[in-house]
Amino acid sequence: MCGIVGAVAGRNVQGILLEGLKRLEYRGYDSAGMAVLGESGSLDRRRAVGKVAALAERLEQMALPGSVGIAHTRWATHGKPSEENAHPHQSAGRLAVVHNGIIENFETLKADLQASGYVFESQTDTEVIAHLLDRESQAQGDLMAAVQRVLARLDGAYALGVVHAAEPDVVIGARKGSPLVVGVGIEEAFLASDPLALLQVTDRFIYLQEGDVVRLTRGGVIEIVDAEGRSVEREIQTFEHGDGAANKGNYRHFMLKEIHEQPAVIAQTLEGRLTDRGVLVKSFGVEAEALFSQARQIHIIACGTSYHAGMVARYWLERYAGIPTQVEVASEYRYRRVVVPEGTLFVTLSQSGETADTLAALRFAKGSGYLGSLAICNVPGSSLVRESDLTLMTHAGPEIGVASTKAFTTQLTALMLFTLALGRQRGIDDGQQADIVAALRGLPALVTRVLALDPEIERLSVDFAEKHHALFLGRGAHFPIALEGALKLKEISYIHAEAYPAGELKHGPLALVDSEMPVISVAPNDELLDKLKSNLQEVRARGGELYVFGDEQVAIEPEEGIKVLHLPHVDEALAPILYTLPLQLLSYHVAVLKGTDVDQPRNLAKSVTVE
Ligand code: G6P
Repeated sequence: MCGIVGAVAGRNVQGILLEGLKRLEYRGYDSAGMAVLGESGSLDRRRAVGKVAALAERLEQMALPGSVGIAHTRWATHGKPSEENAHPHQSAGRLAVVHNGIIENFETLKADLQASGYVFESQTDTEVIAHLLDRESQAQGDLMAAVQRVLARLDGAYALGVVHAAEPDVVIGARKGSPLVVGVGIEEAFLASDPLALLQVTDRFIYLQEGDVVRLTRGGVIEIVDAEGRSVEREIQTFEHGDGAANKGNYRHFMLKEIHEQPAVIAQTLEGRLTDRGVLVKSFGVEAEALFSQARQIHIIACGTSYHAGMVARYWLERYAGIPTQVEVASEYRYRRVVVPEGTLFVTLSQSGETADTLAALRFAKGSGYLGSLAICNVPGSSLVRESDLTLMTHAGPEIGVASTKAFTTQLTALMLFTLALGRQRGIDDGQQADIVAALRGLPALVTRVLALDPEIERLSVDFAEKHHALFLGRGAHFPIALEGALKLKEISYIHAEAYPAGELKHGPLALVDSEMPVISVAPNDELLDKLKSNLQEVRARGGELYVFGDEQVAIEPEEGIKVLHLPHVDEALAPILYTLPLQLLSYHVAVLKGTDVDQPRNLAKSVTVE
């Protein structure tokens, strides 16, 4: 999604803004731009379609000297990716605006502005903000006051950055519905949609809250006004993950680096949360004990990969904790009439904590009679974390690859902790609990062993590079893993992939199976294995090529048309985590063979902050 960077510094900001945009590339975008206030009072802008590198080329030909500026990567919503639609948008050559989000009433505002003589150059909703601001800034007060008056007229979601030639020492920022942070420098101040964009200049951040408007002035002065117009102080937080997260290290892609980080980040997610035989319920927050003991039912809401984690959790929560659980994608949930039985706990799952639909679902749930809310999230200080009653952080560290990998397996790890925490109160068998705890402790080492199978998985990937379709099968808690495998393959290799519960095969997808449709199956050693084997025979009998990821203790032997990769034996409860890994690696290698943009696949965004 769109990315914002802004700076008021004691030096030229072009390099800082450009580096910030490069660091935001992972969010997904289709054009980029920058506007800088020059020493002579001019406002200059460069924009380019495509990668940030194209903007960098423009800047090499014609630099933007100056110490106050804003920059943007755009992910098209209103109007195609083009230079005219790229941000910053200007009005009267005096002011420039960058915007992340959607202005829902832009058509009405546009008609009003056109009637007063403003001529629009783009098809974007953002341009109305620029012209409204021009009109307002000609009236009374300073730029901050003008921005506040404009905001009062906007419906929708936004994070904004604004500069105006009349106030050459100032950048204004505002947030409502889209994330924005202030980077606190030494006599300098910065703005960005994500701290990662600014780690080259600071590790100290203020996470703006809903409705905040901020004025950054030369000398590092930061003034914040809240939604009610009151001056407020916000806490400065230190970013703890270091800047290493923004580098690929020795890996060719962030995705591969993040896949290989999984043993470490799963261990970090478990750290300090397990006792000898169970889970430290306080890890979820001080009120967790009370809320969990009252919980009679769970509603889990999420999007994308996080939704798949929720689907696995449903199997776990019902099986091990005996608690009825529903899982739903946020974009559906937020717009339907939901029946909330008494004692229902509302749970959101999100890597970013800023996904617009998930956040809207949480806000909707607040007035719907839930017992309380829990967010399982990877980004401290994110909106979801701030607005939930309880939180359990996944300690995956920043995830840069658009296709989620380590965020997913750490979510599953956190969800197993949640299952055990609820299970304890609902009479989970002591022995079973102790077995799962022991298995969790051994999980990072097993993950390392599976990652060592990478060369074998890379060899398998060759068979997929020329295919147009693939079918993933799994049963029970491995059906969501099949869904996640299919999602990874389609996201980064653009091969059409579907996933089915294996038992549904003969109700439709079997009609598609032939030698051109590889069928991938996750076959852990669980009670459904024999049934799964019969499903695989059905595929084989139709000439389908099978790829089976199975337990080393399982007697599925390779034969003509069946390739088998054996994984180390794992406690059945944790098998979904382990069986995710070969599917991540398979998609990765297929995408590399196909030469796609692995870390930033076309049309997709890392953090979907608009509806
Ligand atoms: C986007 C990303 C996915 C992610 C989903 C939900 O679609 O590309 O990788 O799973 O958003 O994001 P969240 O941050 O809420 O987990």
